[in-house]
Amino acid sequence: MKSTNIQDIPLNKQLFGDDFVWGVSTAALQIEGAHDADGKGESVWDVFSTKKGKIFGGHHHHIACDFYNRYEADIDLIKQLNIKAFRFSISWSRLLPDGTGRVNQAGIDYYNRVIDYCLQQGVEPWVTIYHWDLPHALELQGGWTNRAIVDWFTNYTTLCAQSFGDRVKHWMVMNEPTVFTGAGYFFGIHAPGKTGLKNFLPAVHHAVLCMVAGGKTLRKLLPKTTQIGTTFSCSYIEPYSNKPRDVAAAKRVDALLNRLFIEPILGMGYPELSVLKGMEKYILPGDEANLIFDFDFIGVQNYTREIVKYSLFTPYIHAKLVKAEKRNVPTTAMGWEVYPESIYHMLKQFNAYPQIKKIYLTESGSAFPDEVVDGVINDTKRAQYLQDFLQQVARAKSDGYEVSGYFIWTLTDNFEWAEGYNPRFGIIHVDFETQQRTVKASGQWYADFLGD
Ligand code: GAL
Repeated sequence: MKSTNIQDIPLNKQLFGDDFVWGVSTAALQIEGAHDADGKGESVWDVFSTKKGKIFGGHHHHIACDFYNRYEADIDLIKQLNIKAFRFSISWSRLLPDGTGRVNQAGIDYYNRVIDYCLQQGVEPWVTIYHWDLPHALELQGGWTNRAIVDWFTNYTTLCAQSFGDRVKHWMVMNEPTVFTGAGYFFGIHAPGKTGLKNFLPAVHHAVLCMVAGGKTLRKLLPKTTQIGTTFSCSYIEPYSNKPRDVAAAKRVDALLNRLFIEPILGMGYPELSVLKGMEKYILPGDEANLIFDFDFIGVQNYTREIVKYSLFTPYIHAKLVKAEKRNVPTTAMGWEVYPESIYHMLKQFNAYPQIKKIYLTESGSAFPDEVVDGVINDTKRAQYLQDFLQQVARAKSDGYEVSGYFIWTLTDNFEWAEGYNPRFGIIHVDFETQQRTVKASGQWYADFLGD
């Protein structure tokens, strides 16, 4: 493969080709608000956010960006910004308040309105079935640790396909299983707040079974031309030094963060890691075949890189991340290193799997504190981040790596999970007192870039 000097490429849309998909990504819980409107059931985040000390500043998502009531104006903004694809997720407990059984028609009507309005405006809906907001009723029965979730998830996916499959042509079964199993079932810093390997390991295995069950269900019910994918978080991993134990530690973290979920579905099995030994008891006879699915595309989501050091005292994995703040590198408001090459390396890494047919970058973005001066948000750091990351995507494409689209995270400032409203990721500013939207300089840059 030829290697290109990225300095030589002036960034423009043509570098990516005419078929490249340009989009923007969101998630139901982070934007919709209306947490108990029109028959919606509780999700694990409704319960988690009421617990003391779990969310920054005691924030909650009950109103968020009020997208539930303002979707038309927000989709108008997407159109105005020349963005052609809108990724959003469906809230499971809005369709099925108890997680299974009783259907809430008002929830189905709401997503029908959103999808129809997108199509009327010439914006393609890209739908994620599960972006972390499990119905609380299911969590009461063990949530992701209960193998019955494969049936619950299949029923929910069936309902999504039957309700919206005539108009939605791009589906993502799941968003970032590494994060919701790791943060929600090992570290307990996301809903439902469970901890330890006894929760994490079954959650991992059941999430893989559900990705596959979801993929199979969509393929069975939807037209042949419908594109079925699923998304994975990833960070480019580098060892702190060339010492063999740092290199080995980095390999273990790469396996856990970047390979754990993708490799079984590609038919490669789980990575060999001693921390996963205990998973064997959750793997039942016949499961092997139900861990594999031939997705039409894979969604890759990248924000940063991580530097990894050997650590004797870190249980299970004997490795730790060297925080960006300790490395004297530029960081975002999340404390993540600004490292645009990470997206190039991750595209290269995912391209090395011959089974993957198509890759979309379904999330990438940055949080920085914004200042509103005379009604203007000149977010130069976010605009620069976006351009530098896109430059690296162009580099990957020109080096021959498959990448077919880019979805920026995210449309509007929103509810950033345990961080509440503190980090602002939007290319559109939201005043959470008034719900006023203002396009930031980064949003205008994206619009101009796409409009060229
Ligand atoms: C992803 C997640 C999004 C968003 C983003 C920024 O991991 O899918 O919901 O929160 O990170 O942190």
